Amino acid sequence: MLNQENKELLTVENLDVHYGDLQALYNVSLQISPGSIVSIIGSNGAGKSTLLGTITGINKPTRGKITFKSQDIGSVPTHTIVAKGITMSPEGSRVFEKMSVEENLFMGAYLPNARRKRQELLKRVYGLFPVLKEKSGQLATYLSGGQRQMLAIGRALMVDPEVILCDEVSMGLAPVIVKDIYHKIREINREGMTFVLVEQDVKRSLKYSDYSYVMVKGKIVMEGPSSELPEDEVKDAFFGIHKYA
Ligand SMILES: Nc1ncnc2c1ncn2[C@@H]1O[C@H](COP(=O)(O)OP(=O)(O)O)[C@@H](O)[C@H]1O
Ligand SMILES: [Mg+2]
Repeated sequence: MLNQENKELLTVENLDVHYGDLQALYNVSLQISPGSIVSIIGSNGAGKSTLLGTITGINKPTRGKITFKSQDIGSVPTHTIVAKGITMSPEGSRVFEKMSVEENLFMGAYLPNARRKRQELLKRVYGLFPVLKEKSGQLATYLSGGQRQMLAIGRALMVDPEVILCDEVSMGLAPVIVKDIYHKIREINREGMTFVLVEQDVKRSLKYSDYSYVMVKGKIVMEGPSSELPEDEVKDAFFGIHKYA
């Protein structure tokens, strides 16, 4: 057995992040086990995107430590963090509108390692999302919301990462499409991919993840195995009911 310290893929310890005078994160700590799906649940402005942005080196923490595979990545630039194996699927399923679906996917495979195996990666993405194959030559701007989210996840897969951070998977999508995408995430996870999912959908987050953290106003106020967290209490925290604020 590995000891607790080495067993985690990604850890965040006592993170503080500021935007000028505004403090966005307070003493945030997380542990992400390899092969798990971890959700970070919180309402608008809770600090979820700030947290993902700090893990990927876009925001610089004022305090705290971020460790990936036992290496300190707290002051490492974003491109190096991506090369080490952490990729983000951004909020709002941002894609390159003026590029075809396939060109968007190849944009993900820009690092030497991924570039070498890009045909294999592409095949896998098309296997997971056949609609992307059907629309491979079309401009991304013509995709529906659900297809864009699939493309954003597909592009993250093309980076050939070890962990994918997904910011607001279900935002703006119809429930039936969200369900479909979550099933795909589970399928990808079963093949070994670790996911960190940022969500505002409490029920779905708890259902599809192994472990959850609840954030309110820049702080983690609750955490635990998703199957053990009471949905009502998570919702109370989420809506800023006094005892969690
Ligand atoms: N680039 C920025 N500059 C200044 N303040 C920001 C910036 N991005 C986010 N914030 C603020 O930080 C807090 C957390 O925002 P964010 O991380 O985007 O929350 P969430 O993703 O949970 O909605 C909010 O108060 C927000 O207004
Ligand atoms: Mg956000």
